[in-house]
Amino acid sequence: DTPALVDRFGRVARDLRISLTSACSLRCTYCMPAEGLPVVPRDELLSAEEIARLVALAVHDLGVRDIRFTGGEPLLRPDLVEIVERSARVAAGASLSLTTNGIGLERRIDALLAAGLTRLNISLDTVDRDHFARLTRRDRLPAVLRGIEAARRAGVTPLKINAVLMRDTLDGAGDLVAWALDHGVELRFIEQMPLDADEAWVRENMVDAAELIDSLAPRFVLSHPHRDDPHAPAETWLVDGGPASIGIIASVTRSFCEACDRTRLTAEGTVRSCLFGDDETDLRGLLRGGATDDELAERWRAAMWGKQAGHGMSLAGFRRPERTMGAIGG
Ligand code: GTP
Ligand code: 5AD
Ligand code: SF4
Repeated sequence: DTPALVDRFGRVARDLRISLTSACSLRCTYCMPAEGLPVVPRDELLSAEEIARLVALAVHDLGVRDIRFTGGEPLLRPDLVEIVERSARVAAGASLSLTTNGIGLERRIDALLAAGLTRLNISLDTVDRDHFARLTRRDRLPAVLRGIEAARRAGVTPLKINAVLMRDTLDGAGDLVAWALDHGVELRFIEQMPLDADEAWVRENMVDAAELIDSLAPRFVLSHPHRDDPHAPAETWLVDGGPASIGIIASVTRSFCEACDRTRLTAEGTVRSCLFGDDETDLRGLLRGGATDDELAERWRAAMWGKQAGHGMSLAGFRRPERTMGAIGG
């Protein structure tokens, strides 16, 4: 048995996040510059075949159990269904999930599920159309809602909805909770991390979990926070005593770095051991140069061994990563 992806702190990476593109159909202010990110030439992106090779390696030789495709917006990859299908064929036993903004999902949900997709997280920060248009710089709330509805109709469970907490949409948080309870989806609020292009993030203005809970208090009582899985980023809170619940991902005020079980591949095929920290290890070049599985596994393990302890956002001397969330892969 070959060793898994462990780091100096004893953490084991079982969760692989693969970015498929840095292109996106929205321009959320916390993730991308208004003009979008530079287009990456097609031959610099991992192909469906290369992705499947790395997925097979991760699952069979490196102990990865959960695989999530992210971006940018994965639905912009014309070969997304093929990527899922090829990965599913070589990753028996691992879960295959997708984080998406939902735009255009209705046209592909059936094919994705047939190809072997097991779970789906969709990003939606507000159900107020004006707020949505301002935050994402695109007036596309109806398209997102159509995608969510299609996933619901297709019977995807659990269906998680991710909402990044922003000052401008905080007023609408109660409506979003009501909407989620109404539609039977698992809503999770996320503290904004300093991964925006405009470097507008400042801790003093960030809406944190405590402020969210206070602002929801007139409408909902949140209680009994717990983690369903020790590695899960979200804490689950009961709404009005349960059984309904929402999740809160307090990446900044209650960091989960100590229990982190993630490894990532960027769309260009580099390993990133942490969202933060700019270390990237190229696998694409090695792979295209004819490397064996053992050589690839060795390089990947070495990259993870050097993983930093955590994001260090509250430490003096904290440096933001050079790339934004959309470029790294959310
Ligand atoms: P589940 O397996 O469904 O719980 O997925 P997930 O929560 O791991 O994935 P998702 O893509 O929905 O990510 C949710 C949020 O977690 C993202 O919006 C990020 O804000 C945050 N997140 C994702 N990856 C990392 C990471 O490596 N480090 C930190 N600190 N936060 C992350
Ligand atoms: N901070 C926290 N979450 C972010 N996301 C994108 N940018 C940020 C950020 N700066 C979220 C998206 C999506 C997930 C992949 O990452 O909303 O749900
Ligand atoms: Fe893991 Fe780094 Fe994310 Fe912390 S910031 S949870 S260490 S990937």
